[in-house]
Amino acid sequence: MNRIPDLGERLLYQEALSLTERAYAPYSGFAVGAVVVGPSGRSHHGVNVENASYPAGLCAERAALAALVAFGERRLRYVAVAASGGRDCLPCGICLQALAEFGDPEVIAQVGGEVRVTTLRRLLSAPFVTPQPVAREVAGAETRAAAGDAEVGATSGEARIPREPCIGDGVPAGDAASVGTTPGDAADAPGDDGSPS
Ligand code: THU
Repeated sequence: MNRIPDLGERLLYQEALSLTERAYAPYSGFAVGAVVVGPSGRSHHGVNVENASYPAGLCAERAALAALVAFGERRLRYVAVAASGGRDCLPCGICLQALAEFGDPEVIAQVGGEVRVTTLRRLLSAPFVTPQPVAREVAGAETRAAAGDAEVGATSGEARIPREPCIGDGVPAGDAASVGTTPGDAADAPGDDGSPS
């Protein structure tokens, strides 16, 4: 973990820590809270939700991510994760992959007893991505959410967003390869400067 948190990041961590009281973790006893923040600056909350059928359990980070997307945002700037009882907790591998779909946020977590900040790409340097036509869609929803136009009916919104060409559309392979459809590329889209609020 590469740096100490600033005041805002410490507050996000405290927010995540307070959420652990709402976690449903009767099987592991490991209560986790997560806060994710997108371009709007709003906090979206998640806790881990376990299940008698263990694999049906959900991590706090992915619960928070679902709240962000349901709100209408599709870009991550901050992820804070905390476990109860003063325990260290970094996002698990599945959560890192899920979060990487939506950018390269700062990750605030306790490591070695200290709250530290790193980036998601430092924790998962090579996430799985596909050359699917998602970049324009991500950028479009991002711009709308940043403008305070969070979409509840995402289906109709997505239908208006032009589809990015991809391999298989008849585009010459050389051109398709340069389309730049990875989620990271979406951060360069107009209306998303990626700067903190
Ligand atoms: N857990 C999270 O919520 N986030 C993580 O990044 C690591 C693990 C949860 C899953 C399970 O409910 C409990 O912590 C113990 O693994």
